[in-house]
Amino acid sequence: MAVPFLDMVAQYREVHGEVEKALLEVARSGKYILGERVAALEKALAQYTDVPYAIGCASGTDALILALRATGVGPGSEVITTTYSFFATASCIALVGATPVFVDIDPRTYNIDPLAVEKKINVRTRAIIPVHLYGQPAEMEPLTALSKEWGVKIIEDACQSIGAEYRGKRVCSLGDIGCVSFYPTKNLSGMGDGGMLFTRDHALAERLRILREHGAKPRYYHGVIGYNSRLDELQAAVVLVKAKLLEECTSFRTRATFIINT
Ligand SMILES: Cc1ncc(COP(=O)(O)O)c(C=O)c1O
Repeated sequence: MAVPFLDMVAQYREVHGEVEKALLEVARSGKYILGERVAALEKALAQYTDVPYAIGCASGTDALILALRATGVGPGSEVITTTYSFFATASCIALVGATPVFVDIDPRTYNIDPLAVEKKINVRTRAIIPVHLYGQPAEMEPLTALSKEWGVKIIEDACQSIGAEYRGKRVCSLGDIGCVSFYPTKNLSGMGDGGMLFTRDHALAERLRILREHGAKPRYYHGVIGYNSRLDELQAAVVLVKAKLLEECTSFRTRATFIINT
């Protein structure tokens, strides 16, 4: 029997009734962008991650770009990141005009090696982007110590890892900003592109909200040049339905991985 690597329709079958109802409600509501479902999703996932602020945006890639811009990374900055990730982790650094500085992974975690970061950090470093790849958190404690010592920001790329825990805390609550993707193949997904940013810092949250909507606050007053990176209501409605099943799905995946590996 051929077993597909990933069967999106199998997951859809489990939730189709509730998802279709939610999509119809959005269609009939007349409110399609940054409405009550986006606000409800931001609230639910902020609570789940245990941070005060969650900000929806258009994709995981945009989340990384917005996080870099909000933390002041730009031309002349270096950002240390891992050699082992999806392309977007590094391309976002280059897209904001900064220089990606690659370091090797720790063979135990497959994630960024803090000792290698220590060797590359310098006065031009503005941020470190650890990636929590395949749901496996990076070793955060030494990175946090380095970020304090050098005054650099930590942007967590948790695009593949919402819900993962490091020493009892959820990823996206460990650094300055956490980034998540709702791309259809991700562990919490929409039916298109979408993303979310997480932070404990009120000022950063405010900057991220402004940057995701063309740098405007109030509306039509553009103090900075931002992006069109809003999350739409259709994606938020789908992700809201699936968010209720996230814990169950995660433990199912964990059990399945355990069975495959034993
Ligand atoms: C580690 C990692 N970072 C960033 C991204 C970019 O997310 P998106 O596809 O939502 O732009 C992805 C997923 O594709 C990813 O796996």
